[in-house]
Amino acid sequence: MIREKTEVLVIGGGISGCTAAIKAGDSGKSVLMITKTSDPMESNTRYAQGGIVALGENDSKEILYEDIMRAGAGISNPLAIKIITEEGPRLVFDFLIHEIGVSFSKNEDGSYNYTKEAAHSKKRVLHHYDMTGFEIQKKLLEKIKTIKNITILEEFTAIDFITSHHSSENPLLKYRNNLCLGAYALNNSTGEVNTFLADATVVATGGIGKLYQFTTNPECATGDGISMAYRAGADVTNMEYVQFHPTMLYTEEGSGFLISEAVRGEGGRLLNKSGEEFMMKYSPEWKDLAPRDKVTRAIYNEMAKSESSHVYLDVAHYYTGEMNIHSRFPGIFEECIKHKINIEKEPIPVVPAEHYFCGGILIDEWGKTTLPGLFAVGEASCSGVHGANRLASVSLLEGLVFGVRAGIASSKTGKQDEYFPDIADWIYPKNINTTNNDPLLIIQDWNNLKTTMWNYVGIIRTETRLTRAESDLRNLHSRITDYYRNTNLTKAKIELRNGILAANLIAQAARRNRRSTGCHYIEE
Ligand code: SIN
Repeated sequence: MIREKTEVLVIGGGISGCTAAIKAGDSGKSVLMITKTSDPMESNTRYAQGGIVALGENDSKEILYEDIMRAGAGISNPLAIKIITEEGPRLVFDFLIHEIGVSFSKNEDGSYNYTKEAAHSKKRVLHHYDMTGFEIQKKLLEKIKTIKNITILEEFTAIDFITSHHSSENPLLKYRNNLCLGAYALNNSTGEVNTFLADATVVATGGIGKLYQFTTNPECATGDGISMAYRAGADVTNMEYVQFHPTMLYTEEGSGFLISEAVRGEGGRLLNKSGEEFMMKYSPEWKDLAPRDKVTRAIYNEMAKSESSHVYLDVAHYYTGEMNIHSRFPGIFEECIKHKINIEKEPIPVVPAEHYFCGGILIDEWGKTTLPGLFAVGEASCSGVHGANRLASVSLLEGLVFGVRAGIASSKTGKQDEYFPDIADWIYPKNINTTNNDPLLIIQDWNNLKTTMWNYVGIIRTETRLTRAESDLRNLHSRITDYYRNTNLTKAKIELRNGILAANLIAQAARRNRRSTGCHYIEE
């Protein structure tokens, strides 16, 4: 049983977690960052292709504000958008480029190559070819390794937050406000549970993509932080707003590989099975660069009409960019070649897939959740910037801005030493049922969960589908909870327990909200 005390605990290490850790570390605090994967590069950030929003030519924070607000379909938080439009573009240059050393693609004359993405009224997205997230993540981790008071522990899966109400042996704490005091985390290799005590805890565990049958997210996106926060009593919000990206590379088994919106930003057009352009019909103003929810539903509709499993994205015949296609999109080019598609010559088969979660743990402008001592950043959090539908390439920007803010704010949290002696260590279940270790049980539960979410809580929702989803997921939740309690802990079981809770929260929110807004679309 290992007990460890740190001043700031960061759970998860994408752009927002790394930035929070660096900022808290800069303040001189001891920072411990835990990641559930063996490679801290593995997060949603790493797979972000398109880029990060800055300000382009003839652009202004006011125009950017309007674009983000319009995409959010009327339910975005004006204060959060004001913060990211005022601070974000400056942080891209001062922090990412100058302090961290991120390299963004440039034109031959040495100026930055800004690209355009859907629903942006200006060319303002900075990118590192089509591997922007990879470059940012790599440079952030390199920086972290130079900061002595930051420790990274890989292969630790957070289980639950330690709170004064749930984890203390002092019953009198029930009469004071609940406080987050760190987290219990499983050492994936030894099976032991560590007690990580912390004055402040920052949760940066990313989104929920793995709750869906088809997603562009990596395996780690199982809604962990959101479910942990909910169990600890923090507010979660906007849970019905799941964003589907219009263009994942189509393969029969679901490739999980994103075809960046920047491909359409650089001229690429969507074609249906008969080779006809169709976005003009659905969005005469924006056409192929309409907001994501509209493009996704247009594709869904075209697929249904032609009984086709996919549509096509043709960049070969419509490209307008400055570099050649291969140099501009090297990652996409190489991946498509593996599937025998030459994007310089032929259209790419594409299909929509879950991509981003606009809801999450409710935070204020400093990343504080409603549970004192707990901060949330990035896709796990909901600052309200994205409203009902996120504008492209704003997620990395939000992670950056709120990562900085939460890093600063968490390092100002006072000492919680008086609480720590009463915090109990993890209690292992006594009568473990070892027959429950059959891996097929977990695989089948995930299959049920993912297909229910995809079919019933997906791109097009109906009252009947949502009612069924709620009931099926409730049953599955009860079975998984029972299973979880009577078996030894593993990373896979922790993820399943979090996944089913997050799925229930999403389905319930979707059923309660009868009004179609942004990416929450209910067919009458
Ligand atoms: C993309 O490259 O299309 C994804 C960018 C984003 O989701 O913001």
